[in-house]
Amino acid sequence: MSAITPSAQVRPGRNLKWAAAGLGAAAVGAWWMSDSAPYPYSQHRLLDLPLPFLTLRRLDGVLEARRSERVLEIGPGTGLQSLHVAPQVEQLDIVDVQQEMLDHVMCRAKERHIANIVPTLADAHQLPFADGTFDAAYLVTALGEIPDPVLTLSQLRRVLKPGGRLVVGEFFDRHQVRPAHLIGHAGAAGLRVSRFVGPAFAYYARLHPSTT
Ligand SMILES: C[S@@+](CC[C@H](N)C(=O)[O-])C[C@H]1O[C@@H](n2cnc3c(N)ncnc32)[C@H](O)[C@@H]1O
Repeated sequence: MSAITPSAQVRPGRNLKWAAAGLGAAAVGAWWMSDSAPYPYSQHRLLDLPLPFLTLRRLDGVLEARRSERVLEIGPGTGLQSLHVAPQVEQLDIVDVQQEMLDHVMCRAKERHIANIVPTLADAHQLPFADGTFDAAYLVTALGEIPDPVLTLSQLRRVLKPGGRLVVGEFFDRHQVRPAHLIGHAGAAGLRVSRFVGPAFAYYARLHPSTT
């Protein structure tokens, strides 16, 4: 019978750690590759986890919402941003292609006695609002999963008041609209990016209707 050396004794633990790391990496890779759009409601619990850098505090700093304003949010998911922004404004309109997402937000809003959120089931490619309706609009980790980002940004520009502002938040995943692409899409939609906040893999951008 051969003697077990000290290094052989610690190897199983090490191997387990490597196996766990490999499985973790494979899971992240599988999620990254299979990440579908629109975001499936069945995975809604993940949406409640705050994303690094795309914090609500940063959103506040870029959006600068005011009490008298009517604000539009596209793709609220389970309401991570909606429930935070609604108490700061007069009315928050939320638009989503999935009724389950809208119902989820409205249920949470009711629990918190937030009564100024108005849900609309619609596609961001065709917003059912009159021109110049909103003081501001925002969408967080949503633009990248909407098939036509230029059409979406054009629609957002149309429903914004001339001096309005739009905030786009994007996180590094398979659908992310990279900052350089956002600048291009914005230009094509009659918007200009005035600033970026945060690192390129998790940024907020502030946009305004172009004046020319
Ligand atoms: C990844 S979730 C983001 C949710 C939330 N903003 C957050 O950061 O937790 C994207 C949301 O965009 C919505 N969405 C996807 N395509 C859309 C479209 N064409 N029009 C409107 N909403 C859309 C999805 O249903 C989903 O609620």
